Amino acid sequence: MKSNHPTLTTKRPAWTALAAHGRKLKAVHLRKLFAADPKRGERLTAEAAGLFLDYSKNRVTSETLKLLVKLANESGLRARIDAMFSGEKINFTENRAVLHTALRAPRDATILVDGKNVVPDVHAVLDRMTDFANRVRSGAWRGHTGKRIRNVVNIGIGGSDLGPVMAYEALKHYSERSLMFRFVSNVDGIDFVEATRDLDPAETLFIVSSKTFTTQETLTNAESARDWLLAGLGSDAKVVAKHFVAVSTNVAKVSAFGIDTANMFGFWDWVGGRYSMDSAIGLATMLAIGPENFRALLDGFHRMDEHFRTAPFEKNLPVLMGLLSVWNTNFLGAATVAVLPYENYLKRFPAYLQQLTMESNGKTTTLDGRRVTYQTGPVYFGEPGTNGQHSFYQLIHQGTRLIPCDFIAFAHALTPIGRHHDLLLANVFAQAEALAFGKTPTEVKAEGTPDWLVPHRVFEGNRPSNTILADRLTPEVLGALVALYEHIVFTQGAIWNVNPFDQWGVELGKALAQRIVPELESPTPPKLKHDSSTNNLIRRYRKLKTKP
Ligand code: F6P
Repeated sequence: MKSNHPTLTTKRPAWTALAAHGRKLKAVHLRKLFAADPKRGERLTAEAAGLFLDYSKNRVTSETLKLLVKLANESGLRARIDAMFSGEKINFTENRAVLHTALRAPRDATILVDGKNVVPDVHAVLDRMTDFANRVRSGAWRGHTGKRIRNVVNIGIGGSDLGPVMAYEALKHYSERSLMFRFVSNVDGIDFVEATRDLDPAETLFIVSSKTFTTQETLTNAESARDWLLAGLGSDAKVVAKHFVAVSTNVAKVSAFGIDTANMFGFWDWVGGRYSMDSAIGLATMLAIGPENFRALLDGFHRMDEHFRTAPFEKNLPVLMGLLSVWNTNFLGAATVAVLPYENYLKRFPAYLQQLTMESNGKTTTLDGRRVTYQTGPVYFGEPGTNGQHSFYQLIHQGTRLIPCDFIAFAHALTPIGRHHDLLLANVFAQAEALAFGKTPTEVKAEGTPDWLVPHRVFEGNRPSNTILADRLTPEVLGALVALYEHIVFTQGAIWNVNPFDQWGVELGKALAQRIVPELESPTPPKLKHDSSTNNLIRRYRKLKTKP
């Protein structure tokens, strides 16, 4: 595919200017930038869809921001945004449109894929999900023995697991507590065993979630689930119909597995796995929080979509955060981003973002098939605060690497108790402050620290961070937050001139595993043709596994 801006990324005038500007700015401390502009902390902020962003603690000046926006323009970001929203096949290596934004479009919207409006299909599935969720939640849907469903087990992996788990944890406050939710993803059998060991099959509903319905882990777990159910409830064909539903784009494979397609909720190839938590893949989420809250979640996504599509880049949250991460990655040498939610309900948000960001922009090939000559996707990681403070923050404060941080906090606790929330918020503000401003040798000495100890107690500071502050964690705010990161990834991909929507890098390992399975299971020693290390490991495993 030809990029619409064929100039090499590093030859764009704004890129060259940013490189020179970055060399100068490396020596400038945030202390100086704040001292020079008393209103900086109010000026470098933006707000949309219920999220307030303070990006003033990044190592940027007005000149940096001007150049970054210029880079976005030179990279054709506006045209790419329009191409995505209008259903162009921008995932050109798979010949697919990229339309997760259609999943949250209002009923009366029109979005064409190959000349067909996809919005009515989206709402038809949402309506079926609503009906099903209402029946399960009200007890109208009964299991094979007539008992109500008390347990819902989602079987899926990657995008068919991480979104549902994250959303379930994030929105637990709004969930139906009489229903128990479990998530099985790993092909390690223990995941299934532990998830079902205390469940009654007569009260258990499995949702088999897989876009392709070919994923080894999910199909293996689904087979074990079917065996477990039939062992508990007898092998009547109706057992599967009452206790299994599927979410997939692949009708043929779902029925080949034995699930009645009347119990299938569909989506489409223009929804990437890691962009699918608001499609039918969100069925477990809807069962947990109810259809109304699920629609509020979609509204939050949509509000952020509209902001991304229409706001000027200078005020556009995803564009600003995307550009700042490019600045930190390509011009200040950062290799990671820490996402640090000060909200325990968001404990799985960093794990969710790992797939969203790294499966999208972990790329070395440009749209026109060349090898990139610059860094692309940084490593995303994180833990909720304040836990992370007592674990890895030491390295962020005093280590040799530059680790930009995204802090996320809420003005209200969902269930306030005692002083907890003020203490939590004091910590998040303090961390961002400490990272930016540090503590000088003079300040350390002034505290009476002996000279020999001073270098150990100095904080250089000048560590960049964003702080996102919202009112409270509602379904709508969660939707806005997820859409924010989806569009950050999009913005980064546009600048790096890569396709964030394919994931060929996961294929090789899958193919090799398929080749190794029979070599492990063969009753006679197989002829091995791998490298000497892999051959040796296989032989050793075969020997060990025959020993009791
Ligand atoms: O192996 C990676 C991947 O293809 C992800 O992109 C996807 O989210 C996951 O596997 C699961 O795929 P599926 O939903 O088709 O089972």
